[in-house]
Amino acid sequence: MESDIFTLRKPEATDGFALNKLVERCSPLDPNSIYCNLLQCSHFADTGIAAEDEDGDLVGFISGYRPPERPDTLFVWQVAVDSRCRGKKLAQKMLLALTERLAPEGIQYIETTITPGNVASETLFARVFAALSAPVERSVLFSRDEHFDGLHDDEVLYRAGPFKLTTPNS
Ligand SMILES: CC(C)(COP(=O)(O)OP(=O)(O)OC[C@H]1O[C@@H](n2cnc3c(N)ncnc32)[C@H](O)[C@@H]1OP(=O)(O)O)[C@@H](O)C(=O)NCCC(=O)NCCS
Repeated sequence: MESDIFTLRKPEATDGFALNKLVERCSPLDPNSIYCNLLQCSHFADTGIAAEDEDGDLVGFISGYRPPERPDTLFVWQVAVDSRCRGKKLAQKMLLALTERLAPEGIQYIETTITPGNVASETLFARVFAALSAPVERSVLFSRDEHFDGLHDDEVLYRAGPFKLTTPNS
């Protein structure tokens, strides 16, 4: 039986290759180049989080960045959890842990895009936004016809916030 014990930590460049393979296994995510994953795990490590199992294997990952013109915002690029570790709130824990790590640095908003019909993703973000008591606005960021030449569904932008995390001493 799969263990429920995962270690959450900041990504390192040596996670890049394993991340590439994890994303490949996590349909419907778009796979990226290994080079892109290496950059996510190095230049963008501060805005990402990795989860490893008891054997040290990479089983979960959130990649993200701060849009240069909105430094108070974490843009979540991809969320991936290995199929054998799903249904254990791992994605939810990773996203909340990442948010908690970044809140002292001024992050007050989370943005992401979701393809309509990705119920797992819609539910995950709805739970996290509710936990943060964050109001949510939705709009189409990239449209099927205008940006994808009809080859990819719309990407709907969810922008949640502002939220304020309270720490035990605040
Ligand atoms: C989406 C994904 C990251 C969820 O990972 P997970 O660790 O299983 O998610 P969690 O256990 O934290 O679940 C969070 C919430 O979403 C719900 N959820 C998760 N998967 C679901 C599914 N397939 N259908 C409906 N609800 C789902 C959970 O029930 C939970 O809600 P709850 O608190 O009401 O029970 C994982 O399924 C995955 O990697 N999918 C493929 C890639 C993908 O679609 N990524 C998201 C787009 S960036």
